[in-house]
Amino acid sequence: MTIFSFTLLIAFSLAITLTQTSLLRPEAEAKSGGFSIELIHPASKRSPASLSTELVPDLLGVYLINFSVGTPPKFQLAGADSGSDINWIQCEPCVQCYSQHLPIFNSLNSSTYKALPCNSSKCLGECHGSQCTYGTNYTDQSYSYGDLATEIFTFYSPQGFQEISFPDILFGCAHRSKLQNTDQMTTGIMGLGISPMSLVSQISPAFGKKFFYCFVPLAQLDVPSTLTFGENAWGSTGSVLFTPIHSNPSNSFYLLTLLGISVGDKRFDFFGNSSTISPEGNIAIDSGTTLTVLPTLLYNQVKTTISQAINVEPLVNENSTNICYKDLNAFDVPPVTMHFIAADVPLSKDNIIWPAGQGIWCLAFRPTENQPFYGNVAQTNFLVGYDLNKMIVSFKATDCTKMA
Ligand SMILES: *[C@@H]1O[C@H](CO)[C@@H](O)[C@H](O)[C@H]1NC(C)=O
Ligand SMILES: *[C@@H]1O[C@H](CO)[C@@H](O)[C@H](O)[C@H]1NC(C)=O
Ligand SMILES: *[C@@H]1O[C@H](CO)[C@@H](O)[C@H](O)[C@H]1NC(C)=O
Ligand SMILES: *[C@@H]1O[C@H](CO)[C@@H](O)[C@H](O)[C@H]1NC(C)=O
Ligand SMILES: *[C@@H]1O[C@H](CO)[C@@H](O)[C@H](O)[C@H]1NC(C)=O
Ligand SMILES: *[C@@H]1O[C@H](CO)[C@@H](O)[C@H](O)[C@H]1NC(C)=O
Repeated sequence: MTIFSFTLLIAFSLAITLTQTSLLRPEAEAKSGGFSIELIHPASKRSPASLSTELVPDLLGVYLINFSVGTPPKFQLAGADSGSDINWIQCEPCVQCYSQHLPIFNSLNSSTYKALPCNSSKCLGECHGSQCTYGTNYTDQSYSYGDLATEIFTFYSPQGFQEISFPDILFGCAHRSKLQNTDQMTTGIMGLGISPMSLVSQISPAFGKKFFYCFVPLAQLDVPSTLTFGENAWGSTGSVLFTPIHSNPSNSFYLLTLLGISVGDKRFDFFGNSSTISPEGNIAIDSGTTLTVLPTLLYNQVKTTISQAINVEPLVNENSTNICYKDLNAFDVPPVTMHFIAADVPLSKDNIIWPAGQGIWCLAFRPTENQPFYGNVAQTNFLVGYDLNKMIVSFKATDCTKMA
């Protein structure tokens, strides 16, 4: 997760959908995974094949899941982060918490909170007394430390028509946490990574190890985005591109292989200059990172070629490696294609530049000497699917403003 700080003066609406279709997996399978699904609303006797939520955008380029924790349920807004595994929310007592608008969760007030004891097989972290603890650092210097516990997580349907609850989700009750550039909407992080601790893995007995999201562009955050666990409910028209996921035991990222990037008719090969980046799985696709982070050389080639194609003088900011423009109506951003193995993903304007407010647009790429990331600006207006059984990521160009 790497949240890039920028301010957008954009209003947005908030909502949630739960798609309700055919069958649940066999009960035996659900039991073997240790999770059962409970449909709370009496009107819904059928079990869904997918769980679809509308995401609440925050102003920092993160898409937030609206759900509740505990009994009675307390609302949370957690960043949907395919670049990490641990689910956590801020909890009382706060040793060190960032400020948040929603009340901080108090486990003493929930009848379903169960602290994870050290002798549990799920305790992979450290121990303090008999309490199992966790700690996690993110690439942008954000972090979270606290107690591991299980709780009931509830997701909501549009206008509260339905709720779906998962009784024993393992999560971190954070007593010490920091988020870079938080706007105080976020109460935690929902890990959509590959390990058994992630939400995807924990609810996979019900929905399989598959999820999809469709993020609306930053310029249209007044329209909700969607996140769906389970089958893709949106039909099969249009062409879908598939590229393999390489897992690396040393981290929990979904690693893709980026062969190169084309700007117009110029193609630049991926050339990582860090020995830790192997040619296969050289870039992590991450819903929780805003900008696309490229090796310095590739970034410089892409930046220079894009800026040469743009007939507007960039704004001068001596403090920034970024490149920004004002009044872009008059220019055309050149076509950019991301060449993943087996998938040439064509980017459009909203994937290449992001609106910084007041008519200023900035390039949605930045350089790094470390781990490259395929960020969420580049993923907007694509239905992005993760299939952890087949170990593939899929991209389908989609108007995400029409999904919800
Ligand atoms: C979260 O969902 C609940 C239930 O639908 C709703 O009442 C609440 O306003 C939502 N919160 C946000 C921030 O969208
Ligand atoms: C939650 O628990 C704390 C500490 O036990 C208590 O002071 C507070 O009143 C409780 N809040 C609610 C809403 O029950
Ligand atoms: C863990 O320890 C507690 C207290 O010592 C004990 O009651 C419980 O049975 C143990 N559980 C496991 C899974 O060993
Ligand atoms: C996080 O980073 C800090 C500072 O570098 C380090 O002391 C700590 O051990 C790290 N924690 C984890 C869980 O990796
Ligand atoms: C990576 O490449 C860039 C551009 O060639 C260069 O400026 C930088 O020093 C290199 N870093 C390392 C660690 O080799
Ligand atoms: C660059 O940074 C300096 C020192 O932090 C600050 O005074 C200056 O206003 C910044 N310039 C721009 C254009 O942001």
